Amino acid sequence: MNALVTGATGFTGGHLARRLHAAGDRVRVIARDSSHATDLARIGIEVVPGDLTDRESLLRAAAGMDVIYNIGALYRAASLKASAYRAVNADAVVTLIECAKAAGVRRVVHCSTVGVHGDIEHPPANEDAPMRPGDVYQETKLLGEQLGREAAARTGVELVIARPSGIYGPGDRRLLKLFGAVARGRFLFLGNGRIFYHLTHVADLCDGFRLCATVPGAAGRTYILAGGEVTTLNELVALTSDIARVPPPRRHWPVWPFWAAGAACEALCAPFGIEPPIFRRRVDFFTKSRAFDISRARAELGFAPRVSLREGIGRTLEWYREHGWI
Ligand SMILES: NC(=O)c1ccc[n+]([C@@H]2O[C@H](COP(=O)([O-])OP(=O)(O)OC[C@H]3O[C@@H](n4cnc5c(N)ncnc54)[C@H](OP(=O)(O)O)[C@@H]3O)[C@@H](O)[C@H]2O)c1
Repeated sequence: MNALVTGATGFTGGHLARRLHAAGDRVRVIARDSSHATDLARIGIEVVPGDLTDRESLLRAAAGMDVIYNIGALYRAASLKASAYRAVNADAVVTLIECAKAAGVRRVVHCSTVGVHGDIEHPPANEDAPMRPGDVYQETKLLGEQLGREAAARTGVELVIARPSGIYGPGDRRLLKLFGAVARGRFLFLGNGRIFYHLTHVADLCDGFRLCATVPGAAGRTYILAGGEVTTLNELVALTSDIARVPPPRRHWPVWPFWAAGAACEALCAPFGIEPPIFRRRVDFFTKSRAFDISRARAELGFAPRVSLREGIGRTLEWYREHGWI
C-alpha cells in the first residue's frame, strides 16, 4: 500500500511511518523542516516538503497514494492563537480530504482524540458519549472531525476517524513528566489517586491505525483506540515505581492549593505568551477520571491491544534511560 503520513516528525506519526515501512508499505511523509525527518529518510522513507496549511504541498504529497494517515496536529502551547489550532486541527482535515479526492486517494484515516468527549462523567466512555471539549485544542479536534465528515460526504473519499486516549511509548515527552518523576522518586502526588487512567501504547495504536486503513467496513466509522488495561492513578504509579525499582510516593497532597496556584500562574504568564510553570490542566490530571470502552474497535476492526502496561512502561523507561531523558 502507498501511504502518506502527516505528523511523522512527531512522536506518534514517526512511530506509524516506521511501522508501515517495516510492514512493507511504501511510505511518504510530509515535513515542514526536513532536518526533523532525517531518521526516517535514513531508513528509506520518502520525505517531501509539506505543511498542513499549504494546499499545494498536500496536493503534491497525495499524488499516487492509496491512503493518507493524518496524524499531525497542534497541541497545547501558551503562545498559539485559536486561529492556528483551527487551521491545523480542523481546516487542514478538509483540505487533505479534498486533495485526496483530487489525487484519487481511496481513504483518509484521521487521528482525533478522546479529548473531544472532555470530562468523562460515567466511565468507561464509548464513541457515543457526549461531546464536551474543554479547551481550544479539544474544540478544534472536534471541529476537525465534523468538517472532515462533511468533506468526506461531499467528495466520496472514505474517512475513518480514530480517537486515541493518552499515548505513551519510546520518544513521548508528555507522559515523560509522570513516568520520569515517578522513576526518579520525585513524583508530587496530588489528590487521592482513585481516578481512572487509560493509556494507549503507541505500538498498539499504530496497529489500530493500520486496521482503520485496511478493514473495508471501517469506512465512515469512528473508533476509540485505547489500551487493554484501565487502572487507577494509584495503581499506575505503583506499577511504574515497581518497574523502576523505587519506593512508591507515600504522601498525597491536597489538590486545591495547586489548582489555585495554576490559575494564578496562567493569568500572570498569558499576557507574555510564556508557558506557566503550573497550570490547571496539569492539576486536572489528578482529578479527572478517564476510562474508555474499546468494544467497537475490537468488534469491527479486530483491534486487540497486545502491549501490557508492565511491558510498555518497562520498555518506555528503558528508552528514556538509554536516551538520557531520565
Ligand atoms: N499524545 C497524546 O497523548 C495524544 C492523545 C490523543 C490524541 N492525540 C493525537 O495524536 C496525534 C499525534 O500526537 P503526538 O502527541 O504524537 O503529536 P506531536 O509529537 O506533538 O507531533 C505533532 C506533529 O504535527 C506536525 N504539525 C504540526 N503543525 C503542522 C503543520 N502546520 N503542517 C505539518 N505538520 C504539522 C508536527 O510537525 P513539526 O515537527 O513540523 O512541528 C509534528 O510532526 C495528534 O493528532 C494528536 O491530536 C495525541
